[in-house]
Amino acid sequence: MKGVILAGGKATRLYPLTLSTNKHLLPVYDKPVIYYAIEKLVSAGVDKIMIVTSPDRIGAFVDLLGSGQNFISKTTGKQIQIVYGIQNTASGIADGLYIAKDYVGDDNCVLYLGDNIIEDDLTAEIQNFHDGAVVFLKPVKDPTRFGIATIDESDKVTEIVEKPTAPKSDLAVVGVYIYDHTVFTKMVGQPKSDRGEFEITYLNNKYIAEGKLRAARLEKEWFDIGTFDSLLEAGLFEKQKKDDSDKSK
Ligand code: DAU
Repeated sequence: MKGVILAGGKATRLYPLTLSTNKHLLPVYDKPVIYYAIEKLVSAGVDKIMIVTSPDRIGAFVDLLGSGQNFISKTTGKQIQIVYGIQNTASGIADGLYIAKDYVGDDNCVLYLGDNIIEDDLTAEIQNFHDGAVVFLKPVKDPTRFGIATIDESDKVTEIVEKPTAPKSDLAVVGVYIYDHTVFTKMVGQPKSDRGEFEITYLNNKYIAEGKLRAARLEKEWFDIGTFDSLLEAGLFEKQKKDDSDKSK
């Protein structure tokens, strides 16, 4: 299983914080945002990770992460491997994943949007994955900001709509996805959406049409670091977690 972390984009909603740096390098309490994504994957047994970012910021990621020397594999006890991919223009999450096509090859992959912080343990879903796709769902207060899943009586996802104006549910699709290698053939002929992006939601709907998408619920905290408030909330949450664990020692 390969990991692909997307860490591109302009993050204009966080200006001026992101005028001269990348959102994924900002601190959330005591670590840069991207550390949370890497640590989550490594703790789930993913040791080979490609970080996809923009050409103007890739140097800062290499300075911070190098070849992965600060992250130790659970299985080998040695350092994990980090490599880099460049997305010239931020034209969508599916486009960012496409950069990793040759890196993933015939393997399966976990696509992790680098601005997501997830508290749930993903090990079982990642280690037990065989084929098709897995998405993670979580109820949200503001469904117009996310990919939103419609489910039937048997809890099966029937459709995902990206940032719906009239949401049919409050179940957001979290920014972590597990795919088999057919995800790349599903991109052939993919049109851009009305907002001009190659949407990940398009690919997830392809898996739904094949009857190959499984949805798992997240039970614990989830942050999408896109706004000043979510950046602050995630920092306060991580501080509380660290304080609680220090107290229990
Ligand atoms: O966080 C979950 C949501 O993430 C999902 O519910 C949505 O279905 C999905 O489209 C996505 O929506 P966002 O509006 O939050 O996506 P955003 O543009 O903020 O990008 C998410 C991450 O991907 C962020 O870390 C930047 C990176 N990215 C994004 C784009 C569009 C890239 O690296 N390249 C890109 O071209």
